[in-house]
Amino acid sequence: MSGFLAQARGRAANAARFLLLAASAVCTAGAAGAAAPLRLCADPANLPFSSEQSGTPGLYLEIGQRIAQALGRELQPVWSLSYWGKRNLRTTLLAGQCDLAIGLPADAGFMGPRLVLSKPILEMGYALVTPNDHAVLRLDDLKGMRVAVQFASPPQSLLATRGDITTVTVMSAEEGMQRLASGAADAAILWGPVAGYVNHAAQHDRWRVVPLDGPGMRWEAAIGFSRRELALRDAVAGVLDRVRAEMPAMAARYGLPGGPPITLADAGPVPSLALVADDTATEIKEGREIFNGTCAHCHGPDAVQSERRINLRLLQHRYGDDMEQVFFTTVTHGRPAKGMPNWSGVFSHEDFIKIFAFLKSVQTGD
Ligand code: HEC
Repeated sequence: MSGFLAQARGRAANAARFLLLAASAVCTAGAAGAAAPLRLCADPANLPFSSEQSGTPGLYLEIGQRIAQALGRELQPVWSLSYWGKRNLRTTLLAGQCDLAIGLPADAGFMGPRLVLSKPILEMGYALVTPNDHAVLRLDDLKGMRVAVQFASPPQSLLATRGDITTVTVMSAEEGMQRLASGAADAAILWGPVAGYVNHAAQHDRWRVVPLDGPGMRWEAAIGFSRRELALRDAVAGVLDRVRAEMPAMAARYGLPGGPPITLADAGPVPSLALVADDTATEIKEGREIFNGTCAHCHGPDAVQSERRINLRLLQHRYGDDMEQVFFTTVTHGRPAKGMPNWSGVFSHEDFIKIFAFLKSVQTGD
Protein backbone atom coordinates (compact mmCIF):
# COMPACT_ATOMS: atom_id res chain seq x y z
CA MET A 1 0.00 0.00 0.00
CA SER A 2 2.77 2.44 0.84
CA GLY A 3 4.24 1.63 -2.54
CA PHE A 4 1.00 2.35 -4.31
CA LEU A 5 0.84 5.76 -2.72
CA ALA A 6 4.53 6.43 -3.23
CA GLN A 7 4.05 5.62 -6.89
CA ALA A 8 1.14 8.00 -7.05
CA ARG A 9 2.98 10.75 -5.22
CA GLY A 10 6.10 10.48 -7.31
CA ARG A 11 4.56 11.85 -10.46
CA ALA A 12 4.34 15.38 -11.76
CA ALA A 13 1.16 17.14 -10.82
CA ASN A 14 -1.37 18.41 -13.29
CA ALA A 15 -4.47 19.07 -11.28
CA ALA A 16 -6.20 20.86 -14.13
CA ARG A 17 -7.01 17.58 -15.73
CA PHE A 18 -8.50 16.13 -12.59
CA LEU A 19 -11.74 14.33 -13.31
CA LEU A 20 -11.78 15.11 -16.97
CA LEU A 21 -14.39 12.83 -18.44
CA ALA A 22 -13.53 11.17 -21.70
CA ALA A 23 -15.68 12.65 -24.42
CA SER A 24 -15.69 9.43 -26.34
CA ALA A 25 -14.63 5.88 -25.71
CA VAL A 26 -11.22 5.03 -27.17
CA CYS A 27 -11.85 1.35 -27.32
CA THR A 28 -14.82 -0.43 -28.75
CA ALA A 29 -15.88 -3.97 -28.16
CA GLY A 30 -17.48 -4.71 -31.48
CA ALA A 31 -21.16 -5.43 -31.49
CA ALA A 32 -21.82 -4.50 -27.91
CA GLY A 33 -25.52 -4.06 -28.49
CA ALA A 34 -27.37 -2.05 -25.93
CA ALA A 35 -25.18 -3.00 -22.95
CA ALA A 36 -24.04 0.04 -20.99
CA PRO A 37 -20.37 0.92 -21.42
CA LEU A 38 -17.97 -0.37 -18.81
CA ARG A 39 -16.47 2.73 -17.24
CA LEU A 40 -12.86 2.35 -16.18
CA CYS A 41 -11.38 4.86 -13.74
CA ALA A 42 -7.97 5.63 -15.21
CA ASP A 43 -5.21 8.17 -15.05
CA PRO A 44 -4.62 10.02 -18.35
CA ALA A 45 -0.84 10.21 -17.84
CA ASN A 46 0.48 7.25 -15.90
CA LEU A 47 2.41 5.05 -18.31
CA PRO A 48 3.08 2.16 -18.35
CA PHE A 49 -0.33 1.74 -16.68
CA SER A 50 -2.67 4.10 -18.44
CA SER A 51 -2.63 6.97 -20.84
CA GLU A 52 -5.05 8.91 -22.97
CA GLN A 53 -2.73 8.56 -25.97
CA SER A 54 -4.40 5.97 -28.15
CA GLY A 55 -1.12 4.50 -29.45
CA THR A 56 0.06 3.59 -25.96
CA PRO A 57 -3.05 3.08 -23.85
CA GLY A 58 -1.12 1.32 -21.08
CA LEU A 59 -1.49 -2.00 -19.33
CA TYR A 60 -4.60 -1.15 -17.28
CA LEU A 61 -6.50 0.13 -20.28
CA GLU A 62 -5.57 -2.97 -22.24
CA ILE A 63 -6.71 -5.18 -19.39
CA GLY A 64 -9.91 -3.14 -19.12
CA GLN A 65 -10.49 -3.52 -22.81
CA ARG A 66 -10.12 -7.32 -22.66
CA ILE A 67 -12.51 -7.49 -19.71
CA ALA A 68 -15.05 -5.29 -21.48
CA GLN A 69 -14.75 -7.42 -24.61
CA ALA A 70 -15.30 -10.61 -22.63
CA LEU A 71 -18.40 -9.08 -21.05
CA GLY A 72 -19.73 -7.87 -24.40
CA ARG A 73 -19.52 -4.23 -23.36
CA GLU A 74 -17.70 -1.19 -24.60
CA LEU A 75 -14.86 0.24 -22.52
CA GLN A 76 -15.11 3.87 -21.59
CA PRO A 77 -12.23 5.40 -19.67
CA VAL A 78 -13.13 8.02 -17.07
CA TRP A 79 -9.99 10.06 -16.53
CA SER A 80 -8.76 11.31 -13.20
CA LEU A 81 -5.32 11.64 -11.66
CA SER A 82 -4.45 8.65 -9.51
CA TYR A 83 -1.81 10.44 -7.45
CA TRP A 84 -4.66 11.73 -5.33
CA GLY A 85 -4.86 8.12 -4.13
CA LYS A 86 -7.73 7.42 -1.80
CA ARG A 87 -9.23 10.85 -2.24
CA ASN A 88 -9.43 10.26 -5.97
CA LEU A 89 -11.13 6.90 -5.48
CA ARG A 90 -13.63 8.41 -3.11
CA THR A 91 -14.75 11.01 -5.64
CA THR A 92 -14.70 8.69 -8.65
CA LEU A 93 -15.15 4.96 -8.05
CA LEU A 94 -16.99 5.18 -4.75
CA ALA A 95 -19.10 8.09 -5.98
CA GLY A 96 -20.34 6.05 -8.93
CA GLN A 97 -18.49 8.10 -11.58
CA CYS A 98 -16.90 4.92 -12.93
CA ASP A 99 -17.34 1.17 -12.45
CA LEU A 100 -13.91 -0.27 -11.78
CA ALA A 101 -10.31 0.74 -11.04
CA ILE A 102 -7.39 -1.52 -11.92
CA GLY A 103 -4.15 -1.76 -9.94
CA LEU A 104 -5.32 -1.13 -6.38
CA PRO A 105 -3.46 -2.80 -3.52
CA ALA A 106 -4.93 -6.28 -2.99
CA ASP A 107 -5.46 -5.48 0.67
CA ALA A 108 -8.94 -5.69 2.15
CA GLY A 109 -8.04 -2.96 4.61
CA PHE A 110 -7.03 -0.47 1.92
CA MET A 111 -10.24 1.57 1.99
CA GLY A 112 -12.50 -0.33 4.32
CA PRO A 113 -15.76 -2.06 3.44
CA ARG A 114 -16.91 0.48 0.86
CA LEU A 115 -14.43 -0.97 -1.61
CA VAL A 116 -14.52 -4.59 -2.80
CA LEU A 117 -11.68 -6.26 -4.68
CA SER A 118 -11.13 -8.95 -7.29
CA LYS A 119 -8.58 -11.67 -6.77
CA PRO A 120 -5.03 -10.31 -7.19
CA ILE A 121 -4.28 -9.88 -10.88
CA LEU A 122 -0.63 -8.92 -10.89
CA GLU A 123 2.37 -8.46 -8.70
CA MET A 124 4.48 -5.39 -8.72
CA GLY A 125 7.30 -3.90 -6.81
CA TYR A 126 10.85 -2.72 -6.90
CA ALA A 127 13.33 -3.97 -9.43
CA LEU A 128 17.06 -4.13 -9.70
CA VAL A 129 18.41 -2.36 -12.77
CA THR A 130 21.91 -3.28 -13.91
CA PRO A 131 23.87 -3.18 -17.15
CA ASN A 132 22.81 -6.06 -19.40
CA ASP A 133 26.15 -7.81 -18.99
CA HIS A 134 26.35 -7.48 -15.22
CA ALA A 135 24.39 -10.15 -13.38
CA VAL A 136 23.71 -9.35 -9.73
CA LEU A 137 22.35 -12.02 -7.42
CA ARG A 138 23.08 -10.62 -3.98
CA LEU A 139 24.01 -7.37 -2.33
CA ASP A 140 27.73 -8.19 -2.37
CA ASP A 141 27.63 -8.06 -6.17
CA LEU A 142 26.87 -4.33 -5.90
CA LYS A 143 30.04 -3.61 -3.87
CA GLY A 144 31.88 -0.52 -5.02
CA MET A 145 29.04 0.55 -7.29
CA ARG A 146 26.96 3.74 -7.26
CA VAL A 147 23.37 2.59 -6.90
CA ALA A 148 20.38 4.90 -7.45
CA VAL A 149 17.50 4.46 -4.99
CA GLN A 150 14.28 6.39 -4.50
CA PHE A 151 14.02 8.64 -1.49
CA ALA A 152 12.28 7.00 1.50
CA SER A 153 11.80 3.68 -0.33
CA PRO A 154 12.47 0.17 1.05
CA PRO A 155 15.52 -0.18 -1.24
CA GLN A 156 17.00 2.95 0.31
CA SER A 157 16.68 1.31 3.75
CA LEU A 158 18.12 -1.93 2.39
CA LEU A 159 21.31 -0.18 1.27
CA ALA A 160 21.53 2.21 4.22
CA THR A 161 23.64 -0.16 6.29
CA ARG A 162 26.11 -0.92 3.51
CA GLY A 163 29.23 1.21 3.75
CA ASP A 164 30.67 -0.38 0.62
CA ILE A 165 27.81 0.62 -1.71
CA THR A 166 27.34 4.28 -2.60
CA THR A 167 23.72 5.30 -2.86
CA VAL A 168 22.54 8.00 -5.25
CA THR A 169 19.21 9.27 -3.93
CA VAL A 170 16.58 10.19 -6.51
CA MET A 171 12.97 11.37 -6.22
CA SER A 172 11.41 9.08 -8.82
CA ALA A 173 12.08 6.00 -10.90
CA GLU A 174 12.27 8.21 -14.01
CA GLU A 175 15.02 10.25 -12.40
CA GLY A 176 16.83 7.05 -11.42
CA MET A 177 16.77 5.89 -15.04
CA GLN A 178 18.12 9.28 -16.15
CA ARG A 179 21.01 8.98 -13.69
CA LEU A 180 21.84 5.59 -15.13
CA ALA A 181 21.69 6.87 -18.70
CA SER A 182 23.92 9.83 -17.91
CA GLY A 183 26.49 7.66 -16.13
CA ALA A 184 25.86 9.20 -12.69
CA ALA A 185 24.91 5.77 -11.33
CA ASP A 186 26.09 2.24 -12.21
CA ALA A 187 22.96 0.38 -11.10
CA ALA A 188 19.63 1.17 -9.48
CA ILE A 189 16.84 -0.26 -7.38
CA LEU A 190 13.68 1.50 -8.52
CA TRP A 191 9.91 1.15 -8.79
CA GLY A 192 9.88 -1.69 -11.30
CA PRO A 193 7.07 -0.92 -13.75
CA VAL A 194 8.36 2.58 -14.47
CA ALA A 195 12.01 1.49 -14.63
CA GLY A 196 11.08 -1.29 -17.05
CA TYR A 197 8.95 1.00 -19.16
CA VAL A 198 11.59 3.72 -19.45
CA ASN A 199 14.23 1.09 -20.24
CA HIS A 200 12.03 -0.36 -22.97
CA ALA A 201 10.49 2.77 -24.45
CA ALA A 202 13.34 5.28 -24.14
CA GLN A 203 16.62 3.47 -23.48
CA HIS A 204 16.64 0.64 -26.04
CA ASP A 205 16.46 -2.11 -23.40
CA ARG A 206 20.00 -1.28 -22.41
CA TRP A 207 19.45 -2.50 -18.86
CA ARG A 208 18.53 -5.74 -17.20
CA VAL A 209 15.48 -5.10 -14.99
CA VAL A 210 14.82 -7.91 -12.49
CA PRO A 211 11.98 -7.93 -9.94
CA LEU A 212 13.05 -8.11 -6.30
CA ASP A 213 11.61 -10.08 -3.45
CA GLY A 214 11.92 -9.38 0.25
CA PRO A 215 10.24 -7.25 2.92
CA GLY A 216 8.45 -4.24 1.44
CA MET A 217 9.66 -4.99 -2.07
CA ARG A 218 6.58 -6.50 -3.70
CA TRP A 219 2.83 -6.53 -3.36
CA GLU A 220 -0.17 -7.66 -5.26
CA ALA A 221 -2.59 -5.50 -7.18
CA ALA A 222 -6.27 -6.17 -7.80
CA ILE A 223 -9.30 -4.59 -9.43
CA GLY A 224 -11.48 -2.47 -7.16
CA PHE A 225 -15.24 -1.91 -7.29
CA SER A 226 -17.70 -0.03 -5.17
CA ARG A 227 -19.47 -2.25 -2.64
CA ARG A 228 -22.68 -1.52 -4.53
CA GLU A 229 -21.24 -3.29 -7.60
CA LEU A 230 -20.90 -6.84 -6.29
CA ALA A 231 -22.63 -8.26 -9.37
CA LEU A 232 -20.07 -6.59 -11.62
CA ARG A 233 -17.24 -7.89 -9.50
CA ASP A 234 -18.59 -11.42 -9.88
CA ALA A 235 -19.07 -11.03 -13.62
CA VAL A 236 -15.47 -9.83 -13.94
CA ALA A 237 -14.29 -12.76 -11.78
CA GLY A 238 -15.85 -15.07 -14.35
CA VAL A 239 -13.70 -13.77 -17.21
CA LEU A 240 -10.54 -12.93 -15.30
CA ASP A 241 -8.67 -16.18 -15.95
CA ARG A 242 -9.08 -15.71 -19.67
CA VAL A 243 -7.84 -12.14 -19.47
CA ARG A 244 -4.98 -13.11 -17.20
CA ALA A 245 -3.59 -15.51 -19.80
CA GLU A 246 -2.99 -12.56 -22.10
CA MET A 247 -1.37 -10.39 -19.46
CA PRO A 248 2.27 -11.47 -19.88
CA ALA A 249 2.17 -10.41 -23.51
CA MET A 250 0.51 -7.12 -22.63
CA ALA A 251 3.02 -6.46 -19.83
CA ALA A 252 5.89 -7.25 -22.16
CA ARG A 253 4.79 -4.59 -24.61
CA TYR A 254 5.40 -2.01 -21.89
CA GLY A 255 8.68 -3.54 -20.71
CA LEU A 256 7.30 -4.47 -17.28
CA PRO A 257 9.76 -6.58 -15.34
CA GLY A 258 8.66 -10.20 -15.22
CA GLY A 259 10.19 -13.57 -14.48
CA PRO A 260 11.00 -14.89 -11.03
CA PRO A 261 11.95 -12.24 -8.46
CA ILE A 262 15.32 -12.46 -6.74
CA THR A 263 16.06 -11.75 -3.11
CA LEU A 264 19.04 -9.51 -2.51
CA ALA A 265 20.15 -11.16 0.69
CA ASP A 266 23.49 -10.31 2.25
CA ALA A 267 24.86 -13.80 1.83
CA GLY A 268 23.57 -17.30 1.38
CA PRO A 269 23.40 -19.63 -1.55
CA VAL A 270 23.41 -18.19 -5.03
CA PRO A 271 20.61 -19.65 -7.11
CA SER A 272 21.83 -21.28 -10.25
CA LEU A 273 20.50 -19.80 -13.45
CA ALA A 274 21.39 -22.82 -15.52
CA LEU A 275 18.83 -25.52 -15.87
CA VAL A 276 19.99 -29.05 -15.43
CA ALA A 277 17.62 -30.80 -17.76
CA ASP A 278 17.34 -34.39 -16.65
CA ASP A 279 13.77 -34.93 -17.61
CA THR A 280 13.18 -33.90 -21.18
CA ALA A 281 9.57 -35.01 -21.25
CA THR A 282 8.66 -32.75 -18.33
CA GLU A 283 10.58 -29.94 -19.91
CA ILE A 284 8.70 -30.27 -23.19
CA LYS A 285 5.39 -30.47 -21.38
CA GLU A 286 6.11 -27.34 -19.34
CA GLY A 287 7.44 -25.55 -22.39
CA ARG A 288 4.29 -26.39 -24.29
CA GLU A 289 2.17 -24.95 -21.47
CA ILE A 290 4.07 -21.69 -21.50
CA PHE A 291 3.92 -21.59 -25.27
CA ASN A 292 0.18 -22.17 -25.40
CA GLY A 293 -0.41 -19.64 -22.63
CA THR A 294 1.50 -16.81 -24.26
CA CYS A 295 2.98 -17.46 -27.69
CA ALA A 296 0.06 -19.35 -29.23
CA HIS A 297 -1.82 -16.08 -29.38
CA CYS A 298 0.26 -15.21 -32.47
CA HIS A 299 2.09 -18.42 -33.37
CA GLY A 300 -0.90 -20.77 -33.09
CA PRO A 301 -1.83 -23.40 -30.49
CA ASP A 302 0.91 -26.04 -30.32
CA ALA A 303 2.74 -23.89 -32.87
CA VAL A 304 0.39 -24.94 -35.66
CA GLN A 305 0.26 -21.88 -37.84
CA SER A 306 -0.56 -21.71 -41.53
CA GLU A 307 1.14 -18.37 -42.10
CA ARG A 308 4.68 -19.46 -42.98
CA ARG A 309 6.44 -16.34 -41.75
CA ILE A 310 5.40 -17.02 -38.15
CA ASN A 311 5.25 -20.81 -38.33
CA LEU A 312 7.70 -21.87 -35.62
CA ARG A 313 7.60 -25.51 -36.73
CA LEU A 314 9.85 -24.39 -39.57
CA LEU A 315 12.71 -23.08 -37.42
CA GLN A 316 14.90 -26.13 -38.08
CA HIS A 317 14.10 -26.05 -41.77
CA ARG A 318 14.79 -22.33 -41.91
CA TYR A 319 17.90 -22.02 -39.78
CA GLY A 320 19.43 -25.50 -39.41
CA ASP A 321 22.19 -25.46 -36.80
CA ASP A 322 21.57 -21.78 -36.07
CA MET A 323 18.05 -22.50 -34.89
CA GLU A 324 18.90 -22.35 -31.20
CA GLN A 325 20.76 -19.10 -31.52
CA VAL A 326 18.01 -17.48 -33.58
CA PHE A 327 15.46 -18.61 -31.02
CA PHE A 328 17.28 -17.17 -28.00
CA THR A 329 18.19 -13.94 -29.75
CA THR A 330 14.63 -13.43 -30.98
CA VAL A 331 12.88 -14.13 -27.68
CA THR A 332 15.29 -11.99 -25.63
CA HIS A 333 15.37 -9.02 -27.99
CA GLY A 334 12.13 -9.33 -29.89
CA ARG A 335 11.64 -7.85 -33.33
CA PRO A 336 9.58 -4.90 -32.24
CA ALA A 337 9.26 -3.42 -35.72
CA LYS A 338 7.77 -6.68 -36.97
CA GLY A 339 5.38 -7.33 -34.12
CA MET A 340 7.39 -9.89 -32.15
CA PRO A 341 7.58 -8.73 -28.51
CA ASN A 342 10.72 -8.85 -26.40
CA TRP A 343 10.22 -11.49 -23.71
CA SER A 344 13.34 -10.87 -21.63
CA GLY A 345 12.24 -9.99 -18.14
CA VAL A 346 8.92 -11.77 -18.72
CA PHE A 347 10.27 -15.30 -18.74
CA SER A 348 13.34 -16.72 -17.05
CA HIS A 349 16.18 -18.34 -18.91
CA GLU A 350 14.81 -21.62 -17.63
CA ASP A 351 11.43 -20.89 -19.23
CA PHE A 352 13.08 -20.15 -22.56
CA ILE A 353 14.93 -23.46 -22.40
CA LYS A 354 11.62 -25.21 -21.84
CA ILE A 355 9.86 -23.38 -24.66
CA PHE A 356 12.77 -24.22 -26.92
CA ALA A 357 12.61 -27.89 -25.91
CA PHE A 358 8.94 -27.91 -26.86
CA LEU A 359 9.56 -26.23 -30.21
CA LYS A 360 12.40 -28.61 -30.98
CA SER A 361 10.00 -31.50 -30.45
CA VAL A 362 7.54 -30.25 -33.09
CA GLN A 363 9.82 -29.30 -36.01
CA THR A 364 8.65 -30.43 -39.43
CA GLY A 365 10.50 -30.67 -42.70
CA ASP A 366 8.90 -28.12 -44.94
C1 HEC B 1 1.99 -10.47 -30.52
C2 HEC B 1 2.31 -11.55 -31.39
C3 HEC B 1 3.44 -12.48 -30.98
C4 HEC B 1 3.59 -13.17 -29.80
C5 HEC B 1 2.65 -13.16 -28.61
C6 HEC B 1 4.79 -13.93 -29.94
N1 HEC B 1 5.37 -13.72 -31.14
FE1 HEC B 1 7.04 -14.59 -31.86
N2 HEC B 1 6.88 -13.54 -33.58
C7 HEC B 1 5.84 -12.70 -33.91
C8 HEC B 1 6.02 -12.21 -35.25
C9 HEC B 1 5.09 -11.27 -36.00
C10 HEC B 1 7.22 -12.80 -35.73
C11 HEC B 1 7.84 -12.65 -37.10
C12 HEC B 1 8.86 -11.53 -37.12
C13 HEC B 1 9.51 -11.42 -38.46
O1 HEC B 1 8.80 -11.35 -39.46
O2 HEC B 1 10.72 -11.40 -38.48
C14 HEC B 1 7.73 -13.63 -34.64
C15 HEC B 1 8.89 -14.36 -34.72
C16 HEC B 1 9.31 -15.26 -33.77
C17 HEC B 1 10.49 -16.10 -33.89
C18 HEC B 1 11.45 -16.13 -35.07
C19 HEC B 1 10.83 -16.92 -36.19
C20 HEC B 1 11.72 -17.00 -37.40
O3 HEC B 1 11.46 -17.89 -38.22
O4 HEC B 1 12.65 -16.20 -37.58
C21 HEC B 1 10.56 -16.85 -32.76
C22 HEC B 1 11.62 -17.88 -32.42
C23 HEC B 1 9.43 -16.48 -31.93
N3 HEC B 1 8.69 -15.51 -32.58
C24 HEC B 1 9.15 -17.04 -30.71
C25 HEC B 1 8.11 -16.64 -29.88
C26 HEC B 1 7.88 -17.19 -28.58
C27 HEC B 1 8.70 -18.29 -27.93
C28 HEC B 1 6.81 -16.52 -28.08
C29 HEC B 1 6.18 -16.67 -26.71
C30 HEC B 1 7.05 -16.47 -25.59
C31 HEC B 1 6.35 -15.59 -29.09
N4 HEC B 1 7.18 -15.70 -30.18
C32 HEC B 1 5.26 -14.78 -28.95
C33 HEC B 1 4.78 -12.36 -33.10
C34 HEC B 1 4.57 -12.84 -31.81
